[in-house]
Amino acid sequence: MKFDILTLFPEMIESHLNYSILNRAENAGIIDVNTINPRDFTLDKHKKVDNPPFGGGAGMVLMPQPYVDAYESIEKLENSITVMLSPQGEPLNEKLVLDLAKYSQIIMLCGHYEGFDERIREIIKPREISLGDFVLTGGELPALCVIDAVSRKLEGTLGKTESAKDDSFADGLLEYPQYTKPREYRGLKVPEVLLNGNHKEINEFRQSERIKRTKLRRPDLL
Ligand SMILES: C[S@@+](CC[C@H](N)C(=O)[O-])C[C@H]1O[C@@H](n2cnc3c(N)ncnc32)[C@H](O)[C@@H]1O
Repeated sequence: MKFDILTLFPEMIESHLNYSILNRAENAGIIDVNTINPRDFTLDKHKKVDNPPFGGGAGMVLMPQPYVDAYESIEKLENSITVMLSPQGEPLNEKLVLDLAKYSQIIMLCGHYEGFDERIREIIKPREISLGDFVLTGGELPALCVIDAVSRKLEGTLGKTESAKDDSFADGLLEYPQYTKPREYRGLKVPEVLLNGNHKEINEFRQSERIKRTKLRRPDLL
């Protein structure tokens, strides 16, 4: 899976990929993450990529030329999708993550400041994706969330011991509670059923905990 990220702050993306599972996935060639900085494409002699909004108002708006030129410089693979990170987009969820994981290239546009000049949307026609009903300072964290969530769905990203099959949302329910050593901590004991080695009983316990937990915390999922 190729990720091409348009960002004014490439280090924010690159530094995150130096760790843990995503780093391993990149080294194994499962994902390939590139950054493209629109500032490298601006024709402005002061290297500007933003300007105050026409009509007045606070903040700076990202100008179309550097973003459109940077976008058009990217080689598009056959099975490619373009995503704009935006609080006005459709909310990211498990279904959308699975949908994105079917592509071989995801190009993402990260905004900053007051966001994008509307013509960037009109020309590029991206799928707009939001991390939720709140506003962040930039699109880099949401882009990293997309990279992370989609990468977990790709064959080989998770090791054998890190299977996603029981994870929350994988089949619509939240995950069961997890325990590890020690068997007792501050008077709180691990449920006996998890210690008896009876896999049928363990599975039944976990399934009933998943339903109980989902009913309690996220009845909308049922
Ligand atoms: C401060 S925000 C701009 C918000 C814009 N003025 C609005 O009210 O819709 C700057 C950038 O951060 C990113 N961003 C902020 N909140 C986001 C969210 N909830 N989901 C995805 N991206 C977000 C977008 O790329 C956006 O262009």
